[in-house]
Amino acid sequence: MERVRAILEAHVERAYAPYSGFPVVALVEAEGESFLGVNVENPSFPLSQCAERNAVAAMVLAGKRRIDRVHIYSPKGPIPPCGGCRQVLLEFGSPGTEVVMHGPEGYVVRTLGELLPLGFRL
Ligand code: THU
Repeated sequence: MERVRAILEAHVERAYAPYSGFPVVALVEAEGESFLGVNVENPSFPLSQCAERNAVAAMVLAGKRRIDRVHIYSPKGPIPPCGGCRQVLLEFGSPGTEVVMHGPEGYVVRTLGELLPLGFRL
């Protein structure tokens, strides 16, 4: 956990969050590799992208499809993933996938099933 924590802290400054002042970094563990994402905001606010979804995009681009664990860090955390990101994470994870929410004082762990009990599936 310490190694992941160091990676998260090293990358959170890459977040582009000038409008909210709320930087977030996500790390997705998938099939033996790790993929990072940060939030990227826009003055047209709804166009802003969450860190988790950007990490998932990096994972998919690398050819991975199975999320084993998710880490989220914000200096204002621990924060849970937003509802939309929960649905996106479930697409590549499972109800048992761990979501580790890190903050300056420590971390909290929940499963995706706890965070999104009735995720939509086709
Ligand atoms: N944000 C994330 O990156 N992930 C979440 O799960 C919650 C919210 C970002 C979006 C926006 O740039 C900022 O945090 C404040 O909402």
